[in-house]
Amino acid sequence: MGRVKRIAVIPGDGIGPEVVREGLRVLERVAAIEGFAYETTRYPFGAEHHLKTQELLPDPAFEEIRGHDAVLLGAIGDPRMSAGFLEFGIVARLRFGLDLFANLRPVKLFDTALTPLKDKGPEHLDFDVIRENTEDAYAGMWGQFKKGTPDEVATQEIIFTRKGVERVIRFAFERCRARGRRKKLTLLTKANAIRAMELWTRTFAEVGSEYPDVTREHQYIDAACMFVVTQPEQYDTVVTSNMFGDIFTDLGAALVGGLGIAASANLHPGRVSLFESIHGSAPQFAGQNRANPLATIMAVSMMLEYLGESGAAARVEEAVVRLLRSHRLPNLGMDSGVGTDEVGTLVLGELEKAPARR
Ligand code: IPM
Ligand code: MG
Repeated sequence: MGRVKRIAVIPGDGIGPEVVREGLRVLERVAAIEGFAYETTRYPFGAEHHLKTQELLPDPAFEEIRGHDAVLLGAIGDPRMSAGFLEFGIVARLRFGLDLFANLRPVKLFDTALTPLKDKGPEHLDFDVIRENTEDAYAGMWGQFKKGTPDEVATQEIIFTRKGVERVIRFAFERCRARGRRKKLTLLTKANAIRAMELWTRTFAEVGSEYPDVTREHQYIDAACMFVVTQPEQYDTVVTSNMFGDIFTDLGAALVGGLGIAASANLHPGRVSLFESIHGSAPQFAGQNRANPLATIMAVSMMLEYLGESGAAARVEEAVVRLLRSHRLPNLGMDSGVGTDEVGTLVLGELEKAPARR
């Protein structure tokens, strides 16, 4: 792709600006090595900006962001505001407004030392989770009634649409096929309690008949939380609803080292898509140069892949993997025990060495 890639950058709250800074350093260096051009537009949205201006994500900026090729997001969330306020106003607004219906969250173990599971290695933990990203309880249809009284009622609707369920399931079958490994797609639901999830099991069977080469499996989410710990090797590609995907991928992250490494791609193929770590804004570590930037750096790798720069994407991933295998980071939690900028510098060092896996 010869065209200059346009990347919108939203560092956000808490540790967001620090980890994004390191992600951008890696991007700058890999672009120089691989020889591609890009430009960034920085947006200030997040808690501070809201406190100063009352703005969350104004429409003109939203439209401008839509005109980019990709969005790199740091983290959103601030304890000074009510839970979910910024998250819905910014993260959910981007996911829903840009219609980023598939949230791809790889669960991949790069080094045996990183998993808390006994007797499991990289050959046992390597699967993709595809989380539906625009519906479910996240649609934000909620209400309170008689608040603060003994008769208080609180509701929140779980929304699934045929269109929303079908497109993410189709995406998952395609992704599973493209991965070309075990060609097995596991659907996670709670259809035995949330009976509306019959829409998921029925759509899965219908769409699945178009993919006879892909083995289908259906599990309940509670059982899957057990199996992913006891037999993670049974997963190849997983598709699930928004809320179960949220929970299952934090569990997945813990199995491969921690939230410090887990990245995600919020995708609408062919349109501007958004890349972020799956961790939050970790306000307790903000501004202390302690937060681990590897998840954001991995998000940069996913972004490069989406932008058609596969060589650069592989180079970044390989640099991170080498660093992990060198055991120079004490842990992969949000606080890796090494300075944020130092981790960035270590990745830059590996970047020079890494031969791209093409
Ligand atoms: C995630 C996060 C978000 C979510 C929060 C910040 C709203 O936990 O991306 O997994 O629940 O989707
Ligand atoms: Mg989450």
